[in-house]
Amino acid sequence: MTRSVSHIGIAVRDLEASKKTFGALLGANDFHEETVAEQHVHVASLVVGETRIELTAPTDPESPIATFIAKRGEGIHHIAFDVEDVDAEVKRLQQEGFVFIGEGPSNGAHGMRIVFLHPKSTNGVLVELCQRP
Ligand code: CO
Repeated sequence: MTRSVSHIGIAVRDLEASKKTFGALLGANDFHEETVAEQHVHVASLVVGETRIELTAPTDPESPIATFIAKRGEGIHHIAFDVEDVDAEVKRLQQEGFVFIGEGPSNGAHGMRIVFLHPKSTNGVLVELCQRP
């Protein structure tokens, strides 16, 4: 762990509408936008200090974000921490008894390698680990 927050993921239904809301809230409109096919999401993010606020909308009904919104509505979806070596962190945390979602690291926004821990491991919080390219 590097003990820095990479980003906070917020699940939204309508990316354009939430860009307006968060753009107005933060007095900014320099969004970075990206579609991450592997995660079935459209992302628009803004840097606040050293942390990104990542607005995340589903690209299709199979998207985990669509499932989340259907169950719990819009809102904070996950918190992501920077790691230097995601594979090493996965190994270390598995030895500590943490449970991961999926088969291992996959491709996220900004060319990052990402992996999610199961919220049952982490007090109900969906935690993502990100390794910068
Ligand atoms: Co994320």
